[in-house]
Amino acid sequence: MAEPIRGPYPQTRMRRNRQYPWIRDLVREHRVTVADLIWPLFVCEGRGREEPVESLPGVSRWSVDRIAERCREAVALGIPAVAIFPATPPGLKTDDGREALNVQNLVCQAVSVAKDAVGEQLGVICDVALDPYTTHGHDGLFRNGKILNDETVEILGRQAVIQARAGCDVIAPSDMMDGRIGAVRGALDAAGYSHVLILSYAAKYASGFYGPFRDAVGSASNLGKSGKHTYQMDPANSDEALHEVALDLREGADLVMVKPGMPYLDIVRRVVDQFAVPTMVYQVSGEYAMLAAAADRGWLDRRTVVLESLLGFKRAGASAVLSYFAPEVARWLCE
Ligand code: PBG
Repeated sequence: MAEPIRGPYPQTRMRRNRQYPWIRDLVREHRVTVADLIWPLFVCEGRGREEPVESLPGVSRWSVDRIAERCREAVALGIPAVAIFPATPPGLKTDDGREALNVQNLVCQAVSVAKDAVGEQLGVICDVALDPYTTHGHDGLFRNGKILNDETVEILGRQAVIQARAGCDVIAPSDMMDGRIGAVRGALDAAGYSHVLILSYAAKYASGFYGPFRDAVGSASNLGKSGKHTYQMDPANSDEALHEVALDLREGADLVMVKPGMPYLDIVRRVVDQFAVPTMVYQVSGEYAMLAAAADRGWLDRRTVVLESLLGFKRAGASAVLSYFAPEVARWLCE
């Protein structure tokens, strides 16, 4: 807007369009719908189990059989897709994360159970990264204090194929290695999975807001004090996010993601303006924990702030949001 289009007060009264619910409905620019939501789910070992995650009150890990229930619930609520994350038993974690390549690992079991339960009614998304499987908690191979980028990328391609074979619809590389999108696309295509989508965690920041997630998948204690700053992005950078997205699109990403969400809305807007491709946002575990904790204490109204936070993502240009609030929001929206 170069100059005001409308005349000044009293000719213009902005409040006229805000007087009644009906006019507010008519002039509303953005809406949150259930079709905007992706529900992240944690899967654990065992049968018939639900394990609450302490740092994510209201969120649980579910055993494989109960993942089927959650997927049917997602379909009933109209949620288009879920993202499944494994809490790998500590005994199966190794230095090289080889459990990632076990065709019977937790996430592969969960994906095939999910697909048997709901078929094409629900999209199933899986992370590609080694952190659920490594004793050191890093997303890649880690030797002598360094991440081995190219060796990791080769493994990630194989991990993607295994997950696609289990029935995964969308492969979501979250590891931030250089060249992984091209490698994953090549591996999927070579194995006959050219129809499988890639959602790239393209602008993923080295954030403090992932803490509760690392508790949920049991990688926090493994990682200890060492951070992911040599591969995840510096929170101080914005132009760099555009380079990351450009590279991932050129390498074959179908969808891109910005992560975390609320502190990075400027990045979402820049990516959408620059590339005009479907851009997802991850409202990460720490964001959930903050809102849930304040609401539990009665300091914030849960429904108001959760819906407002989701609206912020839509306003910034996001096409969908990964949120632990997804099922709750879906219920609110159909009331
Ligand atoms: C694994 C991964 C992480 C998240 C999604 N995939 C954690 C990390 O990078 O350490 C975080 C999600 C959340 O905090 O909700 N690479």
